[in-house]
Amino acid sequence: MKKPSTETSTSELRGEYEGAADDYTVGQDWQAYTPEMHARWRRLHARQSALVETHACAAFREGLARLDCADGIPRFEDANAILEPATGWRLVGVPGFIPDAVFFDHLAHRRFPVTRWLREEHELDYLVEPDIFHDFFGHVPMLLDPTIADFLELYGKAGARAMAMDALDMLARIYWYTIEFGLVRESADGLGRLKVFGAGIISSSGETRFSLEDPKVLRLPFDAVRVMRTGYMIDAFQKTYFVLESLPQLIEDLVGLDFGPVYETWRQAPPIPAGDLLPGETPFGELTP
Ligand SMILES: [Fe+2]
Repeated sequence: MKKPSTETSTSELRGEYEGAADDYTVGQDWQAYTPEMHARWRRLHARQSALVETHACAAFREGLARLDCADGIPRFEDANAILEPATGWRLVGVPGFIPDAVFFDHLAHRRFPVTRWLREEHELDYLVEPDIFHDFFGHVPMLLDPTIADFLELYGKAGARAMAMDALDMLARIYWYTIEFGLVRESADGLGRLKVFGAGIISSSGETRFSLEDPKVLRLPFDAVRVMRTGYMIDAFQKTYFVLESLPQLIEDLVGLDFGPVYETWRQAPPIPAGDLLPGETPFGELTP
């Protein structure tokens, strides 16, 4: 995962950055995981897998099953043997948060940075910085989906222009409200139920339930410009979620959008506060998974 916005010195971060390569990659050092860490992974995996069955979209459920990672902390090389032939993506180990430009460059080349350390026992429910459970369990299943695979490469390629136009916050909100906190309408069952596909939701048992079941939280149809204008919550459940009609909508809407004029129009404007409804907007009603 990538942190949402402002730069942070690596000395304030929790990972071991010493010895990382210029592109911030590190070896996974899988042998260093202890039996307790593998047991913790199994508990996290079991708890979230149960929720995934009812709350996650089909692409996530299928991706997670293909990764077959319930028995312990997975090896990146094993995942790469599944990912590379499927969508051309490859996992690279990182110590934790990495600078924006480095993150974009990895994505543009279909390399997904995965933090190598696992949360501690007292952090099972919540931690601020992403760990291997968030990065792997939350993100990697969706790398097996062709639409998300293509979108993430395009997102990486869009990073340089956003930075040059001083509009990184706007672009980052697209990532935040889709890859991290996105909902999608599941049409395969004919019922059009909303499901989760964002990793920030799916790696949190509390927010997985909250995002779909809370009767009051705002769920709005995905609109790229609205998303880029909307602020978000960093250390609490989101107050607004955006819903794709299907995963391919993500590519269809963004490929046809000229980001330059959108950045110029809105980059100086204060963001719409999370949870605010604008005149004329119609949120989704109360939902059950
Ligand atoms: Fe993430």
